[in-house]
Amino acid sequence: MNQFTYGEAARLQYESSTLIRSAGAGAMIYFFAVLAVLCAAATRAAAETPIERGSYLVNAVMVCDGCHTPRGPSGLDMERRFSGGSIVWDGPAYTVHGSNITPDRDTGIGAWSEEDIKRVLISGVRPNGVSVAPQMPYGFYRILTPGDLDAIAAYLKTVKPVSNEMPPPVYKAAAYPVPLPGAETSIGDAVPQDQVKRGFYLATLAHCMECHSRKPDGTQDFKNWWGKGGHEMKGPFGSVVVANISSHKERGVGAWTDAELKRALTEGISRDGRVLKLPMARQRYFSRMTEQDLDAIVAWVRTIPPIE
Ligand code: HEC
Ligand code: HEC
Repeated sequence: MNQFTYGEAARLQYESSTLIRSAGAGAMIYFFAVLAVLCAAATRAAAETPIERGSYLVNAVMVCDGCHTPRGPSGLDMERRFSGGSIVWDGPAYTVHGSNITPDRDTGIGAWSEEDIKRVLISGVRPNGVSVAPQMPYGFYRILTPGDLDAIAAYLKTVKPVSNEMPPPVYKAAAYPVPLPGAETSIGDAVPQDQVKRGFYLATLAHCMECHSRKPDGTQDFKNWWGKGGHEMKGPFGSVVVANISSHKERGVGAWTDAELKRALTEGISRDGRVLKLPMARQRYFSRMTEQDLDAIVAWVRTIPPIE
C-alpha cells in the first residue's frame, strides 16, 4: 500500500466520523449509504500494491524508458526494456549512457538490494561508492515520499532481466545536480492532497524543469529561468527550442485553457495543433496518469510566474 492510499483512507475515515457526530435517525441511513460508498472507494484505492504504485510512477510519470531503454529504427525497443539507453551524453564533465537497470546480475543491477536502488535514486551514489552523473535526475527524485521510493525499488526488482553490457561511464570532472528549491528533500510521508503541491511533486518527478529551466547555454537556472525555456535541443528529431511554459500570456502558456495544457501532456499536441517534438512527446506515458494527477500538474503549471 502506498502513502497516497493511506492519506486517502484517513481522509475518508475523518469525513465519516464527522457524519457520525451529526447523525439523527434519517441521517443514520444516509450515513450507512455513504459509508458503503466510501468503503468501496477505500478498498479500490487500497488494492494498489507497492509494485503497482512503482509501475505507475515509472511508466506514467517518471518515464525512465526515455534514458534507459534502447531505441531501434521504430522507436524504443520494449523487448529489451530498461537494458540501457541509446542516447550518449558526452560533455566536458562526463560521457555516460543510461545504464542497464534490469535485474540481470552480470550486466544490470541484479546484485543490488532495494536499499542500494533507493540510495542511487535519491543520492546518486552506487553501492561501490561511485556517484552517477547528474544526467540521472536524482536531484529531482529527492522529493520522493518514503512510500513512493520503496515502491519504485520494489517495482524495478520485478522487471525482466535483459543481458546487455553497456559501455562504462567516463568521468572527467566532478558534477552534481543543481538543487531544486522545494525539492531538496522528501516532501513528507504522504503524497500531497493539496492540488498545486501535488502538481509540484509530480512535475518534479517528471523533471519538467530540467528542460524548461535551462538557459540557452544548457546550464540549469531554477531562479531566473523558471519555466522560461529557450535552450535548443538536438537529436534524431532535428532541433527544437524548449518552450516557455510560464503563465506569460503571449510568450508562455498563460492564455491556454486547462484542456489545451492537458492535451499537450496526454496527446503531445500544442495549442495550434502542431505535433510536439520528441523531448516533449511524452504522451505515451503521461496519458496513463490519473485525471487527479493530470489536473494537479496543470494547476501547478498555472502557478509558474510569467517570464519572457
Ligand atoms: C534523463 C535521463 C534519465 C532518466 C529520466 C532516468 N535516468 Fe537513471 N540514469 C541515467 C544515466 C545517464 C545513468 C548513468 C549515469 C552514469 O553512468 O554516471 C543513470 C543511472 C541509473 C542507475 C544506476 C545504475 C548504474 O550502476 O549505473 C539507476 C538504478 C537508475 N539510473 C534508475 C533510474 C530509474 C528507476 C529511473 C526512473 C524513475 C531513471 N533512472 C530515470 C539517466 C536517466
Ligand atoms: C526532456 C525535456 C523536457 C521535459 C522533461 C519536459 N518538456 Fe515540455 N517541452 C520540451 C520541449 C523541447 C518543448 C517544445 C516542443 C516543440 O516545440 O515541439 C516542450 C513543450 C512543452 C509544452 C508546449 C508549449 C508550447 O508552446 O507548445 C508544454 C505545455 C510543456 N512542454 C509542459 C511540460 C510539462 C508540464 C512537463 C513535465 C510534466 C514537461 N513539459 C517536461 C521539453 C521538455
